[in-house]
Amino acid sequence: MVNKKKETAAVAALDFIEDNMIVGLGSGSTASLFIEKLAEYAKQAQLTLTCVATSEKSAALATSLGLNVVDLDDIDQIDVTIDGADEVDAHLNGIKGGGAALLYEKIVAQSSKRNVWLVDTTKVREHLGQTKLPIEVIPFGSTHIFNYLKTHGLNPVFRRNVNKTLLETDSVNYIIDIDISEIKDLHQFGSDLEDFAGVVEHGLFLDVCDALIIGDDDSVEIVQK
Ligand code: A5P
Repeated sequence: MVNKKKETAAVAALDFIEDNMIVGLGSGSTASLFIEKLAEYAKQAQLTLTCVATSEKSAALATSLGLNVVDLDDIDQIDVTIDGADEVDAHLNGIKGGGAALLYEKIVAQSSKRNVWLVDTTKVREHLGQTKLPIEVIPFGSTHIFNYLKTHGLNPVFRRNVNKTLLETDSVNYIIDIDISEIKDLHQFGSDLEDFAGVVEHGLFLDVCDALIIGDDDSVEIVQK
């Protein structure tokens, strides 16, 4: 069943789209709803859009709906990227990566003039950290990173598929989910993670989002930076 709040946010995001734009497509259920709405809108309004996807799944969905999806390296800059998030605070900082697409999502975000996030009302937080923070690590030595995180009380868990095998990202890395509910300085914590050899990326998206669309059942709130 379609989540009404996510759908309301996805529809509102169409206001950020103009003809001839290069549009970044996020990943996850909310971003997928947006991709569906975007494909309908582009057909109906006869828009010429070029899209860049943040995951193989989003690329396949967009292509199947008739959107023109190109490689990030084939374009100059993305005009606007529309993506979901797992949690967001009042400063428009957030946690992403619940769908394991954090690496491509962050690369696409940093290549975008504008980043718009879609969330429902349940994802807005006073402090980030209720959701687990995903860390993408290369397989080599990943158990050592896991043990380090464990020693530091971060309750790491390797993300697994339903059949219990280790989940592999689109770039064939692993995800370790950690508990950051006790961390006070998230900017410092993010930089510390980035200094760690073997860590490819983490799901703290700080100072990335420019506009947040919070979807409720019949209305949206838009928060802009
Ligand atoms: C994908 O890796 C994530 O960053 C998603 O954008 C995030 O998990 C939100 O997902 P939903 O839209 O499915 O809630």
